[in-house]
Amino acid sequence: LAAALIVAAGGGERLGAGRPKAFVALAGRPMVEWSIDAMRAVDAIDEIVVALPPGERAPAGVTGVPGGASRSQSVRAALEAVPDADPVVVHDAARPLVTPRLIERALAALESRAADGVVAAAPVADTVKRAGEDGGVVETLDRSRLWAVQTPQVFRRAALVRALDRPDAILAAATDDASLVEEAGGAVHIVPGPPENLKVTEPLDLEIAELLLARRR
Ligand code: CTP
Ligand code: MG
Repeated sequence: LAAALIVAAGGGERLGAGRPKAFVALAGRPMVEWSIDAMRAVDAIDEIVVALPPGERAPAGVTGVPGGASRSQSVRAALEAVPDADPVVVHDAARPLVTPRLIERALAALESRAADGVVAAAPVADTVKRAGEDGGVVETLDRSRLWAVQTPQVFRRAALVRALDRPDAILAAATDDASLVEEAGGAVHIVPGPPENLKVTEPLDLEIAELLLARRR
């Protein structure tokens, strides 16, 4: 059966709320609880692990583990708590607007495409340019092929274990797990995720998430 690993151990420096981001109040409850609810509503998921920052406890009904020094190290710590789970759903607590439907779509795609990993992603709306350190533009990328990658990201267990079996410095440099799976030679596919599945990074994102969650009720 599948397990969900929710990484919630980050400090939330850019949000600057004075406490770890995943435990900041959002529409009346700690942010991480929105993601836990979405995972609970997926039948295929029978265990939920949350990687925690120092000083915070796991909400009732989920397994808590101490997070690591980097995001991927937190994923690795959570994965070790569910030794038999396969496949594995990885999700950032910083994406509280995730829906059960999106998680189910990602799990279904993992089966039907026989991939090692499937990631939710939205088409990039802005034109993207690569520039040198001096601000000089080097190239303009073909936007029609670009995706802004989100979580959930779902993986076959063996592929994720192998991808995370790297030195801490390499894990610390990775901004998602799929990139580590790709580097290890794994096949990763995309499922379209709604732009509403935004990541709360800055204070403005928290305001937008509040509005969207209020609209849902
Ligand atoms: N995360 C984690 N363990 C870490 C770092 C990050 O579990 N050592 C989690 C965060 O809690 C978040 C997700 O990874 O749910 C994405 O990270 P990010 O948005 O960067 O959150 P923070 O690291 O908390 O924020 P900041 O970088 O602004 O400090
Ligand atoms: Mg961070």
